[in-house]
Amino acid sequence: MCGIVGYIGKKEAYPILIKGLQRLEYRGYDSAGLALINSQGNLNVYKAKGKVADLEAYCVGKDISGCVGIAHTRWATHGEPSSVNAHPHYSASGRLALIHNGIIENYLTLKEKLSSRGIAFQSATDTEVLVQLIEYIMTSNDIGLLEAVQVALHQVIGTYAIAIVDRMHPDTIICARQSSPLVVGFDAEDNFYLASDASPIAEYTDQVVYLNDGDIAVLQRGQKLHVVNLDNVTQHPKVKQIDVTLGQLEKGGYPFFMLKEIFEQPDCLRDCMRGRINADRDKITLSAVIDFREKLVSARRIIIVGCGTSWHAGLIGKQLFESLCRIPVEVEYASEFRYREPVIFKDDVVVAISQSGETADTLAAIELARKAGAFVFGICNAIGASIPRMTSTGVYIHVGPEIGVASTKAFTGQVTVLSMLALTLANERHTISEERYKEMVVELTQIPDKMEQALKTNEQIERLAPIFTYAKNCLYLGRGYNYPVALEGALKLKEISYIHAEGYPAAEMKHGPIALIDSEMPVFVIATRDKLYEKVISNIQEVRARGGRVTALVTEGDTRIRQLADHVIELPDTLECFQPLIASIPLQLLAYHIAVCKGKDVDRPRNLAKSVTVE
Ligand code: M6R
Repeated sequence: MCGIVGYIGKKEAYPILIKGLQRLEYRGYDSAGLALINSQGNLNVYKAKGKVADLEAYCVGKDISGCVGIAHTRWATHGEPSSVNAHPHYSASGRLALIHNGIIENYLTLKEKLSSRGIAFQSATDTEVLVQLIEYIMTSNDIGLLEAVQVALHQVIGTYAIAIVDRMHPDTIICARQSSPLVVGFDAEDNFYLASDASPIAEYTDQVVYLNDGDIAVLQRGQKLHVVNLDNVTQHPKVKQIDVTLGQLEKGGYPFFMLKEIFEQPDCLRDCMRGRINADRDKITLSAVIDFREKLVSARRIIIVGCGTSWHAGLIGKQLFESLCRIPVEVEYASEFRYREPVIFKDDVVVAISQSGETADTLAAIELARKAGAFVFGICNAIGASIPRMTSTGVYIHVGPEIGVASTKAFTGQVTVLSMLALTLANERHTISEERYKEMVVELTQIPDKMEQALKTNEQIERLAPIFTYAKNCLYLGRGYNYPVALEGALKLKEISYIHAEGYPAAEMKHGPIALIDSEMPVFVIATRDKLYEKVISNIQEVRARGGRVTALVTEGDTRIRQLADHVIELPDTLECFQPLIASIPLQLLAYHIAVCKGKDVDRPRNLAKSVTVE
């Protein structure tokens, strides 16, 4: 949460910072701010409550000149969203300005200490403590900024990605990282960029360094990038090339990123499978499985950890691994797993799933698993993020940057990777026949085409959506592989339309939620033709008998459910285990169109952020 961006070089910083904030707005958008040092050495700080557009409006007519600056878009943790609590925060003398993503856990202790020495605080944030502490250390010890940052960070408990400017040294930005992401980019023309992820940098250079925990980077005009640790030992992080294209970062004619990302899914899955499924479509090759074959094939148990949508993908993974590979699987919310005392064996494989690769709870769960000696396998989208760097091995889903806060293509990418992994392990363990394996691989490669067909339901769903805008509650029902699809459909609706929705295993409805059903509550049932089809029809009957209004997702050509449901949405047929890849599409579209009908900001739903880097 929170996005940070910075620039120092030969160009005007303001446009780079604003564009960078727009790219990072998915990380938080309750307030934004920036600090610029102009050619006279003045440090100008501008902040506004609201979105980046509000900051831009606030800056009109102000001095926005300067070739060095830092900027921040906030997702509030400590202190309400307001311009006072927005970043950058500045030091008592007004000399330093600092931006921060993360949480300073011991900020109250530090604040009391500084207050007792006469330092007055302006904001209610944990961040302000950092900038005040750094200046206090600088002045009371008569040391330079870098040394003061090192001393200060030794006193800090918590997580941070920070960047600081000093109006007395306008030729330098110092930035540091501990458990919050930070990327530094540079080019041959003496320009440095920093950001929470590579998206604000991709436009200017493809040369980046992903800072490691404990790294402090000095971005100094005319100098090479210098990275040290808290004890001033020089570090040598690897220079990487970014492979994000600008097209991936733009809306490409769609009104919202979410809609663009929904429609991108067929191509995303083709990218995800490219190079992994051969041209004859009879073999999946995942290099991670080749490199760690023994560990993976002989797993005694798989524990899947993740949060939100990634956890839903994990529930599908459980069914895939259990039915195809005959390996017992547990699926855990990372946030619960990390604070229980789970029994973890050395021959367990822990699969951590995360789109962003930065989710704090998932990182902590991985740490716990690693300490217990388990083998940790990552499934991630963001290239170079923390999770792929801290897991033993893993697979990128390769669906491109996902910017809409509500996850769509990452979900289907995760399920595709889980499908490829389960099929690979099943083949290696001989738990499915060679013939079945090949049939399934062929079917998996046909999913993108079937998704294209499923996307044709868009117009029908757009027409249906207004009917549901009145709803206060909705129920999503599914069984087997479609139960996690019901959970995911409900999550999408909650997130972007603010309608309460619950996903439930269809047969469990009669154990409680059936009491809620009346003509006011829309019930969405995933009733595709699979081994539980007849049972789901009975569940639909139960809803109907209580006056409930049913919208059913059915397999094309289904005539039985058409007679029972108020609305049916037809989907192409596929194997039961791949049905979530198809059935999730109309539910994503439904949530999207309902939210649009309600006039909601689909890409920036209230209170949420894309990357949850705090507990
Ligand atoms: O980046 P991650 O996959 O680790 O994120 C996990 C959840 O925060 C995320 O899936 C969240 O639930 C989405 N907003 C769902 O649309």
